[in-house]
Amino acid sequence: MNILLTGGMGFIGSHTAIVLLEAGHNVVLYDNLSNSDASVLDRLETITGRRPSFIEGDIRDGIAMQKALANIDVVIHFAGLKAVGESVHKPIEYYDNNVNGTLVLLDAMMKTGVRRLIFSSSSTVYGTPATLPLTEDCPTGEATNPYGRSKLHIEQILADVCRAEPSFSAICLRYFNPIGAHPSGLIGEDPNGIPNNLLPYVARVAHGTLPYLKVFGNDYPTPDGTGVRDFIHVMDLADGHAKAVPYVMNNTGWIAINLGCGRGYSVLEVIHAFEKSSGQKIPYQLVERREGDIAANWCDPSKAQRLLGWSATRTIDDMCHDAWNFESRKE
Ligand code: NAD
Ligand code: UFG
Repeated sequence: MNILLTGGMGFIGSHTAIVLLEAGHNVVLYDNLSNSDASVLDRLETITGRRPSFIEGDIRDGIAMQKALANIDVVIHFAGLKAVGESVHKPIEYYDNNVNGTLVLLDAMMKTGVRRLIFSSSSTVYGTPATLPLTEDCPTGEATNPYGRSKLHIEQILADVCRAEPSFSAICLRYFNPIGAHPSGLIGEDPNGIPNNLLPYVARVAHGTLPYLKVFGNDYPTPDGTGVRDFIHVMDLADGHAKAVPYVMNNTGWIAINLGCGRGYSVLEVIHAFEKSSGQKIPYQLVERREGDIAANWCDPSKAQRLLGWSATRTIDDMCHDAWNFESRKE
């Protein structure tokens, strides 16, 4: 299969590229490098023995998108901006990149006859869960920030496109909290500046690059009072995309599928798991809740098991071990 990965040089895209290359697919990475680095190509070649094609370009460039789509069977659409806090201050940039970018991509797909799309959605579309675990039938529409709303808009746009074009197939993969790194330690999550997300922050505290972790809130209605999330190893997530490829080829219409482990770990549990994996102490302070955070979320991943034949296999210890292996190799 010829598979185009928009945003394929980023965290989740690059790990997915490994699984697809190892499965024998031809992979084209299309990325404007706004949040990634060209050195990823060398690393992918070292890991897989194959060098994917790379096109430096923006998804909002319709002509470049049409060229890139020549001979493509499936698009996996990772490209977008993803920092929740930043999206509150830069809504126009977020809607332009994420929503407008997806519209330009869809228009280019229509013009080139490509009808198969796998989209990076997020558990953020569920907003504050009324019940747990979250199934795909749970209500959406309560996202609390422009980033989350951009994901919801895109899901709805894709549903409309599928209604209008019966030959179109779109899978919205709703990721829970992807963490970890490839076991080689050559690629992983390496945000610029101070990390917003828990795991990259914890990894830098373990490495000594940051002095201590702030734990946002210990008065949530959870077993230890700290936030609970469904953390999933990025390589499990990558496997989920590979399993979605035959599904999107053999079916038409719109579908949403959760990708998570189906169980939650608290912030304190993650700290302890990371300490065990790294052998490093993680100093932390309990501070106020972070605005916009929910207490807990985890999913029911049975639809992915039923329809894609996929379920997560890596444990929280694997996630912390691989994240530390990546972090500790850095200067
Ligand atoms: P990432 O920032 O590492 O990767 C995104 C890639 O897209 C980057 O390489 C960036 O350079 C590229 N990009 C951004 N805007 C672009 C544009 N206009 N044109 C071309 N390329 C562009 O992020 P990630 O963690 O790999 O996330 C991938 C997707 O998954 C995103 O859509 C994100 O919203 C979604 N997602 C991520 C998480 C998470 O926790 N990481 C959770 C849920 C959903
Ligand atoms: N947390 C801390 N200290 C930190 C960072 C995070 O205590 O320095 C806590 C948060 O309060 C939360 C938990 O760790 O309880 C997880 O926080 P993250 O920021 O790692 O992840 P979120 O669940 O807030 O959001 C992430 C992505 C979103 C995505 C969502 C679901 O940032 O883009 O997962 O996939 F939508």
